[in-house]
Amino acid sequence: MRIVITGNQGYIGPMVVKHLKKTLSDLHITGVDTGYFKSGWTGSQASPECLVDKQLFADVRDIDADVLNGADALIQLAAISNDPMGNAYEQVTHDINCVAATRLTKVAKSAGVRSTIIASSCSIYGQGDDSARTENSVTDPLTAYAKSKLNLEHAVQGMASEDFQVTSLRFPTACGISNNLRLDLVLNDFVASAMVNGRIEILSDGSPWRPLIDTQDMARSIEWALTRSSPNEAPFLAINAGCNESNYQIWQLAELVKDFAPNVEIATNPKASPDKRSYKVDFSRYAELAPNHQPKISLSQSIGSIWESLNKVRFADKNFRSSDKMRLNVLKAYRTAGRLDSDLRWVH
Ligand SMILES: NC(=O)c1ccc[n+]([C@@H]2O[C@H](COP(=O)([O-])OP(=O)(O)OC[C@H]3O[C@@H](n4cnc5c(N)ncnc54)[C@H](O)[C@@H]3O)[C@@H](O)[C@H]2O)c1
Repeated sequence: MRIVITGNQGYIGPMVVKHLKKTLSDLHITGVDTGYFKSGWTGSQASPECLVDKQLFADVRDIDADVLNGADALIQLAAISNDPMGNAYEQVTHDINCVAATRLTKVAKSAGVRSTIIASSCSIYGQGDDSARTENSVTDPLTAYAKSKLNLEHAVQGMASEDFQVTSLRFPTACGISNNLRLDLVLNDFVASAMVNGRIEILSDGSPWRPLIDTQDMARSIEWALTRSSPNEAPFLAINAGCNESNYQIWQLAELVKDFAPNVEIATNPKASPDKRSYKVDFSRYAELAPNHQPKISLSQSIGSIWESLNKVRFADKNFRSSDKMRLNVLKAYRTAGRLDSDLRWVH
């Protein structure tokens, strides 16, 4: 099988590539990434570009059919990948996450690629109550990032056909280890804070609901999407990819980290304006369709592995929220240095 994967040098990409190499045979993987983020800081793990058979350094807004000719599947991870970046670069977020991914999907179909997988997000459900959202629930994307993901789903839905399967995996918030670990994700941030500051600072009152998934389980989901073939399944499928047990309120995540590191102090911010992004998600459909690819990694295991990974590199940066471990800071630093233009294209 020949696979093209965009965004392979980010946080999730290396875990997907490693997993596919382990589980599928006769695989040739081409990675396409523009290289925004430095990799490999957590130690001796291979850099993401070393894991693929071929690496192209390119922008998904520019690539054409040549890259996709002969490929069986296209996995699309390249994106401006969280709300802070989406808020800072709204138009670019739309252009990369929606416009470029839509165009690439069209190009893939014309090139004879048989399936594409989109890394969508449960954040498209926006503000919910305590009832869990199914794939048929009303969506209410509150941010530029969430809107770009939902708009992409809408744009590619009609392209799916008998010869071209489109799977949109609506993922929970990621956590866990990677060859390119990032700390701007809620659980990763809590573990890093617990380790270096002995304190977890919850930026809200702790009440919002958030489902979580380990990077290794995301990789297993992508493997499922690549190989799904039930005749009863429509060529287009948008599915909540996680498990029902993974819905947590933010304060519960902090308590679980405290279970691991009991001396840690937890501080909430009752005065913070309420975080409207709160969603509990129903993953029953995924349990039904992907019984052999259900999430396996418990939250406690994720916490343990992030801790171990940080410990190995003697992580000690108390001010990591201002560091390059946060995606937005990296983009801002490149902008300030004149390395990226306002469209987040490299200045050569
Ligand atoms: N991390 C999460 O919590 C989470 C949850 C749900 C869905 N997702 C989705 O999964 C995907 C991967 O997430 P991640 O955490 O690895 O993000 P990431 O930011 O760590 O990695 C994204 C990668 O895409 C590349 N990229 C960005 N714009 C590009 C462009 N124009 N051309 C080529 N490459 C480009 C970056 O260089 C980076 O290597 C994203 O689509 C994200 O929206 C992530």
